[in-house]
Amino acid sequence: MSPWRATARAHPNIALVKYWGKRDPVRILPHQSSLSVTLAPLEVVTTVEFGAPADSVVLHGTEARGKERVRVLALLERVRAGTTRALGPVRVDSRGNFPMAAGLASSAAGFAALALAGRAAAGLSTEPGAVSRLAREGSGSACRSVQGGMCIWHRGSREDGEDSVATQAFPEGHWPELRLLVAVLSRAEKEVGSRDGMAQAVETSPYYPAWVKDAEAEIPRAIAAIAARDLEVLGALSERNAWRMHATALAADPPLCYLLPGTLGLILALPAARRRGVPVWFTLDAGPNPVLLTLASHEAEVERLAREAGAVEVVRCRPGGDARLVEP
Ligand code: DP6
Repeated sequence: MSPWRATARAHPNIALVKYWGKRDPVRILPHQSSLSVTLAPLEVVTTVEFGAPADSVVLHGTEARGKERVRVLALLERVRAGTTRALGPVRVDSRGNFPMAAGLASSAAGFAALALAGRAAAGLSTEPGAVSRLAREGSGSACRSVQGGMCIWHRGSREDGEDSVATQAFPEGHWPELRLLVAVLSRAEKEVGSRDGMAQAVETSPYYPAWVKDAEAEIPRAIAAIAARDLEVLGALSERNAWRMHATALAADPPLCYLLPGTLGLILALPAARRRGVPVWFTLDAGPNPVLLTLASHEAEVERLAREAGAVEVVRCRPGGDARLVEP
């Protein structure tokens, strides 16, 4: 392998206590800590090679243009700034094993793999803290995809962001029965992405300060529930954190509604399923497709329930491992 080239793989993650708002949009520093589960078998594989004839960014087989290309190259500029070596133009090739059209964001896995491959290709340390800080500057939630299992992105308080980093709270083997099913109700691209949506909520939602305080307080409770492998407590916590994030978004001006009628149809059917003895709870990012938390013993039943409620695709996931370097 050339010393200026490396390939890394990383899984996406789903937050159970969500990040929704930046105190510093340039360094990507959040207003509150967040907690997520890394999702296998979904992953993005990214190769970075310095010393290429010209800068080139290929995402999912297509040469990237516009904002996406700028964000990728900006992250690699930070890599360049960390070394005195003349690295030259860079070639990036990144692809995911899950269709973007499935309504799953690949940016967390993409920037985690890019940060790891970029630092390795430049001969810089690939210690998880350094990779997580760099990934954060590409996309906030990406800092939680550097390590596997359950990770906490600590808000931090420093202005330079050095203490705003994700660490692993539990390895992926801690709760092998946990399952996370992505219920794809719509493949349409959302009108307002997370980045713009959260900025709008910070600026205009009167509920924003309450949201921040509440989310921060949920982190130790989420850790305790995961430690005890108590899905009932964790599920209830995930649902209320998702509702509160969406309530904050709905209260923005103009309002941000990420829910579709089908989203409500599915998530409002869950209490009845629980009464029938099915352990199932939801979380919902800034989009219409819920992620259902359940146990391996009930995975098939929960998939059926999601399909009956209109899911066009159900992606079965479990806690995944660390981002890692691989041979291309
Ligand atoms: C609702 O990490 O995509 O998924 O930092 O602007 O790139 P940027 O935002 P991004 O936002 C994720 C928001 C969320 C909640 C979460 O993952 O914590």
